[in-house]
Amino acid sequence: MSAYFVTATGTDIGKTFVTAGLIRYLRGAGQPVNALKPIVSGYDSSVVETSDPAVLLKALGRQVSADEIDTIAPWRFRAPLSPDIAAAREGRGIDFDRLVAFSRDAVKAATGILFIEGAGGIMVPLDNKRTVLDWMAALDIPLLLVVGGYLGAISHTLTALDVLRQRKLTIAAIVVSESERGTVELDDTVSSITRFSDGVDVVGLPRLPGGLTEHPAFARIAALL
Ligand SMILES: Nc1ncnc2c1ncn2[C@@H]1O[C@H](COP(=O)(O)OP(=O)(O)OP(=O)(O)O)[C@@H](O)[C@H]1O
Ligand SMILES: [Mg+2]
Repeated sequence: MSAYFVTATGTDIGKTFVTAGLIRYLRGAGQPVNALKPIVSGYDSSVVETSDPAVLLKALGRQVSADEIDTIAPWRFRAPLSPDIAAAREGRGIDFDRLVAFSRDAVKAATGILFIEGAGGIMVPLDNKRTVLDWMAALDIPLLLVVGGYLGAISHTLTALDVLRQRKLTIAAIVVSESERGTVELDDTVSSITRFSDGVDVVGLPRLPGGLTEHPAFARIAALL
């Protein structure tokens, strides 16, 4: 059993894309795998198919049903805002202790590889005092850090690495998921981040054309888990 927390330098960077690709690769290699996306904001119950939990469930080969979505993504909010604000819009809140207990139980119960996808970036607030960083620190499982390939991504990545090191979190791998209309060569971003990564492997994942979900990079990332 091993569990990984999938986090990123920001929202829309590629956490779900990378997680789904890894799930498909691992299942193809006959490995048991599971995934959770405990907190989803911007969840529109009339357009479920493109939601993060649906993408993950499809990759896992499971049904996109209300029950399955409840199982892997219990905290869902309508507004496409940070979880604390999205929850407040509905007069709700995220009980941090329950979130940690839910995640820990899943880690304990996992029989293969478990991915827990965070929400947004590493310091998105969950309530008035805690951020995703506190959630990751409470779980203390290795991270898969997904970063972008846009101009500015290197600085965002090094800032994130500094904060993660301060909290003594372990990073299993850094994945540079190439950004749309990026003006920077993916290989340059990968080598630059590698120079600052303290030995953590950095894998570049090119921008894949629409619909394509397979790439040799997933095997390289899986080898680091
Ligand atoms: N390497 C890539 N090739 C092609 N498309 C990608 C790639 N990386 C990300 N995408 C696409 O970019 C969009 C944002 O990625 P994704 O949903 O994985 O981000 P995220 O980090 O999970 O965001 P959130 O914070 O909302 O959970 C999605 O449409 C996804 O399919
Ligand atoms: Mg996502």
